[in-house]
Amino acid sequence: MKNQQFVLAARPEGLPEEKHFRLEDLAIPAAGSGQVVVKTLYLSVDPYMRGRMNDRKSYSPPFPLDKPIAGGAIGQVTESLTETYRPGDIVSGFWGWQRFAAVDAGQVRRIEAGGAPLSAYLGVLGMTGLTAYFGLLDIGKPQPGETVVVSGAAGAVGLVVGQIAKLKGCRVVGIAGSEDKIRYLTEELGFDAALNYKRPDLPAALQEACPNGVDVYFDNVGGTVSDAVLALINPGARIPLCGQISLYNNGKPDVGPRIQPLLLTNTALLQGFLVGQYADRSAEGMEALAKWLAEGKLRYRENIIEGFENTPQAFIGLFHGDNTGKQLVKVADPV
Ligand SMILES: NC(=O)c1ccc[n+]([C@@H]2O[C@H](COP(=O)([O-])OP(=O)(O)OC[C@H]3O[C@@H](n4cnc5c(N)ncnc54)[C@H](OP(=O)(O)O)[C@@H]3O)[C@@H](O)[C@H]2O)c1
Repeated sequence: MKNQQFVLAARPEGLPEEKHFRLEDLAIPAAGSGQVVVKTLYLSVDPYMRGRMNDRKSYSPPFPLDKPIAGGAIGQVTESLTETYRPGDIVSGFWGWQRFAAVDAGQVRRIEAGGAPLSAYLGVLGMTGLTAYFGLLDIGKPQPGETVVVSGAAGAVGLVVGQIAKLKGCRVVGIAGSEDKIRYLTEELGFDAALNYKRPDLPAALQEACPNGVDVYFDNVGGTVSDAVLALINPGARIPLCGQISLYNNGKPDVGPRIQPLLLTNTALLQGFLVGQYADRSAEGMEALAKWLAEGKLRYRENIIEGFENTPQAFIGLFHGDNTGKQLVKVADPV
């Protein structure tokens, strides 16, 4: 057994590429007092990581160069100098792109694997599921009969948003980037309509798919897709602003329509949010998501790439639409 980590070798300008990451060999760490050593089983790669690769002030600090990339992970404890954890325990944490890490016990959380596979705790029962749950229900407040549009609809957050909106009795329209994804949303997840944003007539097709306008727009992507949706909002619309992935690789600020008149004349609410704001309510979200999952009311997909050495490739693929559902890296099986 050896330890390896991926460090940020250079800050990307534009799309991230393999050359921006460097694989390093190092010793497996020993646990210090109050620490556990974890062996990584699954790694989460997420669009927000792209923002942390810039040297710009944001809600979380930039990743330092030449240090391992931080991010959500699931692992198995191999050594413990705490009363709380024993070797063999499965935990989640934020130690990121490393095969082994020594982590303070307070920085990990035990996973009591129940009915769901371990990987689900990084997706539908983890950060992205909770993002969908709180963004849609707390800000979007969908009501039966309303029209909910979600962009990035076949991604980790989007597919949960659309299904919760269906459970709330809404007409759900998804927007995604391939015909396979469109079929998955309508034929397998029960979306009422889904549109490929790469079609040239997106604004007209959206209007047709939303004959009663748009009451809730869950925005994962921004850019021209959001311009087309916002043109259709109804009075009193709610817009949970979750992500802007179409802009993450832009060097310059995006210039688009000025939307304030639309928001004003429709008395609409546009609210940015971060899932971390809901940390003290995560048990509520987890309970609801786990219940819907167990009842078969919530379905999900994962795009799992095998092998730690493929972590940068998995991350880069997010910006090329390679994933349907949550993008993960499988590093090892539990023992
Ligand atoms: N606010 C929060 O707390 C929070 C938490 C988690 C995630 N987010 C945000 O939510 C969004 C979705 O995250 P996720 O984890 O569920 O990722 P994801 O949707 O599973 O993966 C990214 C997807 O974005 C789409 N995409 C990539 N480039 C695009 C572009 N230029 N225009 C339109 N779509 C593009 C691709 O699908 P297509 O094939 O459809 O293009 C890709 O598969 C991201 O913007 C992320 O930053 C926010």
